[in-house]
Amino acid sequence: MITWVMNEVLRLYPSAPNLLRQTREDIWVGDKTVIPHGTNIWIDAVGMHHDRALWGVDVDEFRPERFKDSPYGGCTHRMAYVPFGSGGRVCVGKNLSLLGVQGCGVPHTQKVLIVPLSKL
Ligand code: HEM
Repeated sequence: MITWVMNEVLRLYPSAPNLLRQTREDIWVGDKTVIPHGTNIWIDAVGMHHDRALWGVDVDEFRPERFKDSPYGGCTHRMAYVPFGSGGRVCVGKNLSLLGVQGCGVPHTQKVLIVPLSKL
């Protein structure tokens, strides 16, 4: 569950808000638009992580459980959730970071006592 929380925090507030790439060849987008070879591209992770068309109407809500059944949080495009980047330059520390959060989380969550408000 702590992993869902980290995924959701990184969705809403990605610590790397942009990914940088450079085209190695002309890239055609549809029939009319070409991105020329050598173009520097900033990929807007924040924009994609907040796109209602990709995530649904609850896009701005903090809902860690959206990652319960899907590593992409139910996003309709698997390349649109990129807190650690993607492809050949994906973050090499991704698994270490997730492991770190799990390691920190377990001892703490074991000490959490959930009490109904009525009992306080
Ligand atoms: C929450 C923690 C972290 C986040 C959100 C994060 C995010 C990212 C992102 C977005 C990239 C760019 C990936 C791309 O362009 O596709 C990246 C690259 C990288 N990260 Fe992380 N990172 C985290 C932790 C770490 C840690 C703990 C390490 C090292 C132990 C690390 C090492 C690297 C390295 C070396 C690269 C460059 C990879 C390359 O260009 O080949 N990161 N990270």
